[in-house]
Amino acid sequence: AQDKRESLYVLSQWAGKFFRENLWETNLGQSIGLSYFKERGYREDIIKKFELGYSPDQWTALVDEAKKAGFHEGYLADIGLAIERDDKSLYDRFRGRVIFPIHNLTGRVIGFGGRTLKTEKSVPKYVNSPESEIYHKSDVLYGLNFAKKAIMDADLCYLVEGYADVIAMHQAGVENVVSSSGTSLTTGQIKLISRFTRNVVILYDGDAAGIKASLRGTDMLLEEGLNVKVLLFPDGNDPDSYAKQVGSTAFKEYIEKYQEDFIFYKTNILLKDAKDDPIKRAEVIREVVTSIALIPDEIKVSVFIRQCSSLLDIEERILLTELNKIRLNRAKAL
Ligand code: UTP
Ligand code: MN
Ligand code: MN
Ligand code: MN
Ligand code: MN
Repeated sequence: AQDKRESLYVLSQWAGKFFRENLWETNLGQSIGLSYFKERGYREDIIKKFELGYSPDQWTALVDEAKKAGFHEGYLADIGLAIERDDKSLYDRFRGRVIFPIHNLTGRVIGFGGRTLKTEKSVPKYVNSPESEIYHKSDVLYGLNFAKKAIMDADLCYLVEGYADVIAMHQAGVENVVSSSGTSLTTGQIKLISRFTRNVVILYDGDAAGIKASLRGTDMLLEEGLNVKVLLFPDGNDPDSYAKQVGSTAFKEYIEKYQEDFIFYKTNILLKDAKDDPIKRAEVIREVVTSIALIPDEIKVSVFIRQCSSLLDIEERILLTELNKIRLNRAKAL
């Protein structure tokens, strides 16, 4: 089994090289793939650093090359580079897409994300490697291998939604950044982050989905004992589009200036909806206390209860009663 895993790693690395060579050394790769990345504003050194590639727009380009190179055909399907038809023949999963290799902590390639170049809504924007013996999505954070040192140095980790966000932030000079890549944040991913820092700033997309995911992510991070700040970008922007819009310097100033503690972030978001409706305001208070009740550190809990009290203009004693009620109900539910 160990031999097989090693072979799968070797095959993944080989595929990464195949996609890379197709990007840099073929006419179509250059005119389609490379110009796509350049139009997105990515510098060549960044394209190389992240080992970006291009998959030819053919049914069996990779399968044919892999066979020629002597790779075991079954392994192509096992790591999802190829898909098996009913008649057992294989075809390429990634066709005519730009490729983002996914690495594990030690920098070995374990999977790929492929972005379409088409704009039709009917085509999925990203195709990703499936789960395999070497790729467990819920235990992987895209970019962590490039970020771990910067995360330790800054004692802070930025958490973004997508591949492109990680890359754009590196290009802007912010290297302590990882992405959960579409899968909603998992406990495994949070445990990974906490090996390097206890401080997380969520930088999700400034759209409805991003807001929802940021609230869910906040609660999960709090529950694991991490400190959480949040910042969403204006007008539906994500870190990549915003960095491109305003430039590196303004981008860095923006994230430094506007990241806010989860309690202010969450309160403000919910209050916006509640306006002056007293029943809705009561619901906001309950919601915020529900998040505070997840925090395992009692000293932090009391600090946040005090903040919540002044923020929402309600007595601490009442908030504490509510907090204990929530905890009791949770304990009962277990
Ligand atoms: P987004 O829809 O925010 O895409 O999804 P993006 O990263 O901004 O992509 P660009 O800028 O248009 O290239 C965030 C992440 O969710 C995953 C990808 O990892 C993506 O980076 N995703 C999204 C998928 O896996 N499949 C999809 O079809 C869409
Ligand atoms: Mn697993
Ligand atoms: Mn998004
Ligand atoms: Mn996005
Ligand atoms: Mn984007």
